[in-house]
Amino acid sequence: MFVILINNKFFILVKIQLFNAIYFRIVIIVQKVIITGGAGFIGYHLSKLLLDKGFEVEIFDNFSNYYSSKIKWLNASEMKNKGATITKGSILNKNELSNSFENADLLFHLAAQPGVRYSTINPSIALRINVEGTANVLSVAKDKKIKRIVVAGSSSVFGNKEYLPIDENHPKNPVSYYGVSKLAAEKISKVTSHLYENMEINIIRPFTVVGARQRPDMGLNIFTTKALNNEKITIYGNGEQTRDWTHIENMISAFYLAAIKENVIGEDFNVGSGFRTSVNDLLKLISKYTGKELKIEYVEFDKADVNDTLADISKAKNLLGYKPIKSLENAIQEFIDDYFLLKEKFT
Ligand SMILES: NC(=O)c1ccc[n+]([C@@H]2O[C@H](COP(=O)([O-])OP(=O)(O)OC[C@H]3O[C@@H](n4cnc5c(N)ncnc54)[C@H](O)[C@@H]3O)[C@@H](O)[C@H]2O)c1
Repeated sequence: MFVILINNKFFILVKIQLFNAIYFRIVIIVQKVIITGGAGFIGYHLSKLLLDKGFEVEIFDNFSNYYSSKIKWLNASEMKNKGATITKGSILNKNELSNSFENADLLFHLAAQPGVRYSTINPSIALRINVEGTANVLSVAKDKKIKRIVVAGSSSVFGNKEYLPIDENHPKNPVSYYGVSKLAAEKISKVTSHLYENMEINIIRPFTVVGARQRPDMGLNIFTTKALNNEKITIYGNGEQTRDWTHIENMISAFYLAAIKENVIGEDFNVGSGFRTSVNDLLKLISKYTGKELKIEYVEFDKADVNDTLADISKAKNLLGYKPIKSLENAIQEFIDDYFLLKEKFT
């Protein structure tokens, strides 16, 4: 038997002997990938990348109403048109997970209750979905013998910086319930790797992801949408806090690399752009790209927010070959283009 892997498909040359004649058949096996939370912002872009790379993609998502499920259904239907299977189910339900995870080769676990501010008001919801949900996903993945798994962590696990750039060994002292829940999800992933050595689990810790279809509760989306509608923008703090804004295409390339690098197992990676920009400078860029003069109101800093973030991306560069290519400016322009596209679709 001869096996080769081209474009994420296994081509197997099978020899068949029938009476005195010998035949050869090529059998093509497509790798099945599950993306929990695949209808969300990062999941949408990751699904597109994986479909383009020839994987069979199943999106598993409960289309939660944390933000408009219309956007999530649009994301999913675009992916369905490209060949993905869509399953509506919750990571809190092991039976639903079990049905989907059958025969999967790869799993990306992105489903979560995001939102730092939301978690201040609803700590138990964030904790239940992100902690119990992750435990369920990994337990079913073990039963279904899914070998390779990439789990979405978060830069929020670090809390306020002790030094910059933040490497993987930086102390992890979250300042929000969301951060606590994501840290617990990471620990569950590490314990699972420790207990079941044949499970290959890597963690990607995204630093503020930006681009088209960004979640409506995130800064760039809120500021740009308000700018385009001539509405007042509220900034928590003096706007001098900085973020490592990471273009969505850079981010999904890291997720992909963490899934396919054969010898990279049981690792965690901080993934950002390697640059930081203040909120005030982001606002200037938004003003430039929207052509609008912004109305800004500064209010008290939210203690659940962190002051500065900047990822040390050397580990991701060295072990994964991660190379951020697209910029914050690209993300703003692409967000604006997509904003008008969505407006046309929904009106
Ligand atoms: N976007 C960022 O900047 C960022 C930064 C750090 C970490 N992350 C992490 O990346 C992942 C994806 O984030 P995103 O920005 O795409 O968020 P998102 O909210 O757009 O996507 C998450 C998806 O999970 C789904 N979901 C929620 N609860 C579920 C449940 N019980 N069962 C099944 N599906 C459920 C939602 O419907 C949504 O489609 C999350 O784990 C998040 O914590 C994101």
